Amino acid sequence: MPQTFDWDYAAEDVSLSALYSMSKDEQWDAARDIDWNLGEGTFPRGLLNVKPNDDTEQAAAFAAELQKWVISQILHGEQGAMLAAANIVEKAPSLEIKAASAVQVVDEMRHIEVFRQFLDTRHGGRYPPEVALESLLIQIIENPDWDMIALGTHILIEGLALASFGMLKRASLDPLLRQILRRVMRDESRHISIGFSALTPVYSELSASELKFRQEFIIEALILLYSKAKHEQIYERLEMTPSQQQVVGRLSGEQTTQLRRDLSRKIVPYCRRLGLLEANQSFLAKEIARLDLADL
Ligand SMILES: [Fe+2]
Ligand SMILES: [Fe+2]
Repeated sequence: MPQTFDWDYAAEDVSLSALYSMSKDEQWDAARDIDWNLGEGTFPRGLLNVKPNDDTEQAAAFAAELQKWVISQILHGEQGAMLAAANIVEKAPSLEIKAASAVQVVDEMRHIEVFRQFLDTRHGGRYPPEVALESLLIQIIENPDWDMIALGTHILIEGLALASFGMLKRASLDPLLRQILRRVMRDESRHISIGFSALTPVYSELSASELKFRQEFIIEALILLYSKAKHEQIYERLEMTPSQQQVVGRLSGEQTTQLRRDLSRKIVPYCRRLGLLEANQSFLAKEIARLDLADL
């Protein structure tokens, strides 16, 4: 679908107008509103809870690298969200969706700024995007239908972001990271509300086959996202032996299972709210139940 204009300039959707206003009110500045000197060097810098019997130097080093890896993936997801929001500005039919998404573009650039700076400050660099994440982001952005871009962004990518932020908040003692997450999570919650307000009226009008297409898109994306996390880049960087990889693999495995559970707890109710879970004889609900997360 090419770019669309809205020549009516009608402002009929109260919830989208309210979200646009709220978005303007809640702007913050990564340079001014984050205390970048917070907690420098006073806490263990890692994502895993390394217990005394695991407490090898390698496990601690892996925990720090894992945090760097996870936040790098979040950074890449933020760039995907910025491009997706820009695509929605171009392609969505109404000015209200365009307006809310235009402010979202600015929000996502701020998230890029803040995570890029955090990685430079705490970890001195970043990892490249994981193959599955990169492929999902491209699939979403290159979709010809704006509603599919919005579905992929607001439900999948932002659902994944909120689940990952929850994991980081539980695991990390870094006060700077916690301050950043508080700000970013507030923006993300607003973005998800934009998604519901934009998509609900559209999805109530779709045919069974159009809904099925969207249900299949969700399930394929979940299979991609649930596929085993690849930590080879970290093993290589730390030159870990197979037995060292086994110790840290067990620790990070527990966390990955928890992350998948948290992701399902977000995505399932989101899909129900959009009417996607129960449509077509509960196709999506059954497919999600069939996904044995432990086996993926
Ligand atoms: Fe974001
Ligand atoms: Fe977002």
